[in-house]
This record gives sequence, structure tokens and C-alpha cells, in this order.
Amino acid sequence: MESISFVTHVVCSECGKNFSHRELQTFCPTCNKPLVAVYDLEKAKATMKKERVAARPFDMWRYRELLPVESEANIVSLGEGCTPLIQLKQAAQQLGVREVWVKDESQTPTASFKARGLAMAVSKALELGVEKLAIPTAGNAGGALAAYAARAGMQSYVFMPNDVPRTIYMEAKLTGAHVELVEGIISDCGRMVAERKDAEGWFDVSTLKEPYRLEGKKTMGLEIAEQFHWQLPEVIIYPTGGGTGLIGMWKAFAELVEMGWLDCALPRMVSVQSEGCDPITRAFRAGRLDSDFFENAETVAAGLRVPKAFGDTLVLKALQESGGVAHSVSEQEILDGVVEIARAYGLNLCPEGAATWAALKRMRDAGELSESDRVVLFNTGSGLKYPEVMEMLTSD
Ligand SMILES: Cc1ncc(COP(=O)(O)O)c(C=O)c1O
Repeated sequence: MESISFVTHVVCSECGKNFSHRELQTFCPTCNKPLVAVYDLEKAKATMKKERVAARPFDMWRYRELLPVESEANIVSLGEGCTPLIQLKQAAQQLGVREVWVKDESQTPTASFKARGLAMAVSKALELGVEKLAIPTAGNAGGALAAYAARAGMQSYVFMPNDVPRTIYMEAKLTGAHVELVEGIISDCGRMVAERKDAEGWFDVSTLKEPYRLEGKKTMGLEIAEQFHWQLPEVIIYPTGGGTGLIGMWKAFAELVEMGWLDCALPRMVSVQSEGCDPITRAFRAGRLDSDFFENAETVAAGLRVPKAFGDTLVLKALQESGGVAHSVSEQEILDGVVEIARAYGLNLCPEGAATWAALKRMRDAGELSESDRVVLFNTGSGLKYPEVMEMLTSD
């Protein structure tokens, strides 16, 4: 069978040791750091054509040579990817930049960008013969795993905090996942999966503890490049929990450069977190490439309640290499952002998405923007998944 993918192997992001992509992989057993997929980019350069990609179906699998699934039959899809870029015209004037766009990930099958990573991880796990998947999650990733596992006919075991938005709990439950509500946050859920996975025969798809969710998130970078006609915006602002999307986009741009598909400057990658949980901002400000565990994490932006990202070094490297920055915003700025953008533009951002708008204003105040900048904000999910927040913002 000829592979639809140009993947060649996976490599440790720390020590550079190679591993087979034809066997089930987790993370580097020596360094305890993430493994990342490597592709034959020479072959991609020689054989892939932008026009051919453009003519393919409108979903993230249009970039199949640069994705790890080898047989089309193993693709587990609900139509994820190819989300719109929505322009905020007055915002550009207000902030003194050229353009402001929202990459609207609310328009994915599970109403959050987690659909991309989990579609990829589930597809690859199916290809490698896995039957049971487990995930510790801040919320949305659990809903996405449940949906894709159902579609693939696999069992899923989802561990989420007991104060997760109710809709997200129900989403996972409805699609047949075994859901456990945990007293605590994602790190406590992670401990439970780690303790039980061997005895239960679960494959752990925790963020970056398997190599392929990253490849799903990478498609956000490929898409932005295609949507900007193989140019790139100057600034991308991303709400960081585990940071997979930010790392994935930075990887996408590096691959496209190597293929000769981009001849523009790379964007400044900007991370935003809540002041209630901002380990990456603190590490960035200290000039470090690793982060400390953030105690007593608390934020309305459920997806940002990640006290220690497994891929923290990769996030911090991407911020540094791109000349980017990390900001923290207050809970009030996040809530104000939801209301402001809803009223001015009709977009119901999730709190994590609203944090990017708050970060953009922080950048303006800090003199970090120029009038030629085109900015992309990531709305990583739908505000409709957070009825408790909507209620708080609309009750008299
Ligand atoms: C809506 C939303 N935005 C952002 C994030 C953070 O994503 P990442 O862990 O890839 O940084 C999450 C994670 O749960 C999320 O659900």
C-alpha cells in the first residue's frame, strides 16, 4: 500500500533520538520530553503543488502529505479544519494596526479547536491498533476525544475537573465516553490516568504525551498560510494552556519554509494566559525555557487552567525564536472581551478566545504593535460551550 503521508519517523524534541512512526509512541523515555513527527520535506517540495492542495476537499486532511496518517482508510473525520478568518475592521483602526482577524475555531465539529488534535490522535491510534483511549482534560479535549472515539468505534475514558462547564461534561457523556469528574484540575486528572492506564489497557492521549495531537493543531498554521495566500500575518495571538496549537503552528511554518512555500517573515507568536494561571508568562518574563508548577490555578477560561505544560520548553522556544511575547490578562479583561466582541462584531467568543483580544490591547498599551501589523487572534472555541459565563454576563 502506498502511504498518503510523507512522514518518516518521530524524533525527541530534546535529545534528537529517532523513533518509528509505525509503532505506538508516547514521549522520550530518556528525556521525558515530547516526540515530534518528521516528514520527507524534500519529497514534499518536489511533488506537492499548492494548486492541487487548493482543489482538495475543504478540511484539514487537504494537507495529508504533511500529516502522519498513512492510509486514507484510517482517517476518522467529522469535517474538521478550514475554519474562517473573520475580519474585525474597526478594531484595526482602534488599535492602530493594519488588520485584525479572528481565526474562528468555534466552527469545528466539537465547537473547539481540540477537534483537530483529537481527530489526528484517534486516526493515528486506529492505524496503530489501539482500542481504548484515555485523556486528562481541562474540558474541550475530552469532548473532542469522546466524539472521535465514538466515530472510530473505540472506547474513551475522560477525566475532567468537576467544575468543568456543564455542556462539556454532557458532550463527552452523550457521545458514550466513560467520564470521571475529578476533584481538582487537569494535573490531578493526569495523575489518575497515569496511575490506571497500564492496568486498564488505555492509551494515554494527554497533550504532547503522544506525538500526533500536535500534528492536528499544526494544520491551523498551514491553513493560515493558505488563507493569507502563502504569506503570513505579522502577529498571531494564542491562548496557551498546554500550548500545542502555538507549537504546532510554529512547526507548520518551519516545514513550509523548508519546502520553499513561504517567502515572507515569520509571525511573532504571542501567548496569552489568565493572571489566575500564568506559568508560561512568568517563565517567559524570567527568560527561562521551562516553567514552574502554578499553585492554586483558577480562571473562568477553563482551557487555560493548566498549571504546568508538558511542552513548556517548546512553547517558550517558539515565543523566543519568533520574537514574540507572553502576556497575562485579568479575569475582568477576559469577561469584558467576551461582551465587547459580541456586541461589536456578533461573535460569541469562548473566554480563552476573548483573552487574545485583551492581550492585543495589552500589546497596544506596551507599544508592541506597529501600523503595518496584520494580527490573527485565535478564538479556540464557541462561547456557547460556557453557559455559566454567558449567564453571568447577561443576568441583570
Ligand atoms: C477553548 C480552549 N482554548 C485554549 C485551550 C488551550 O489549548 P492548548 O492546551 O493547546 O494550549 C484549551 C484547552 O483546553 C481550550 O479548551
